[in-house]
Amino acid sequence: MIRGVKGTRSEERVFYRLLRMASISISPKLIITAMKLVKRHPLLALVNSYLIDSPAPSNLSYLWNFGSLLGTCLALQIITGVTLAMHYIGSVDLAFSSVEHIMRNVNSGWLIRYLHSNGAGFFFIFVYIHIAKALYYGSYRAPRVLLWSIGVVIFLVMIITAFLGSTETCLKWLNMISSH
Ligand code: HEM
Repeated sequence: MIRGVKGTRSEERVFYRLLRMASISISPKLIITAMKLVKRHPLLALVNSYLIDSPAPSNLSYLWNFGSLLGTCLALQIITGVTLAMHYIGSVDLAFSSVEHIMRNVNSGWLIRYLHSNGAGFFFIFVYIHIAKALYYGSYRAPRVLLWSIGVVIFLVMIITAFLGSTETCLKWLNMISSH
């Protein structure tokens, strides 16, 4: 047991069992040092308190992973979106050529564009599953009414952003084609 840290006995046992299941042999001393570090280091303790020691209801399933998956999608969309915007030109005359330029000349430009467009698709698939889970389990009821309402606002902002993003490229192209 790690002295001075409350409730570590059962956690240690679970940890050992996991290691044994994975056929990993690490000296108990090393494990105790690592656990001490994780629980006492100012930053690691904060991460640990949210990600590992945080008490959670036992009925949570894999469906609760979609929230963090959505956060990952958001980060991906922002990073690839900003990178695309560095090479995209939002004018009727140059929009098409700048996309061609991204696809052909920019290093990994094709990859960034496909990540952004597929990322947008997956973002919506995940948000629908996320919302369906909240509806099925009644997560929109008290005490989560404000959380749900903020979710509705986020959903609207997502729809508007995706609409603006796709029209930015597609309508400019159409406009260009029709004006020629
Ligand atoms: C960018 C979009 C979003 C992100 C990053 C996000 C993130 C999260 C995260 C991390 C959680 C906790 C883990 C989980 O239950 O999955 C969560 C829970 C929740 N989210 Fe979202 N969310 C988003 C959109 C939405 C939308 C559009 C709604 C509803 C209209 C919504 C409603 C909820 C509700 C009700 C919960 C609580 C679920 C429960 O505890 O049973 N979220 N969200």
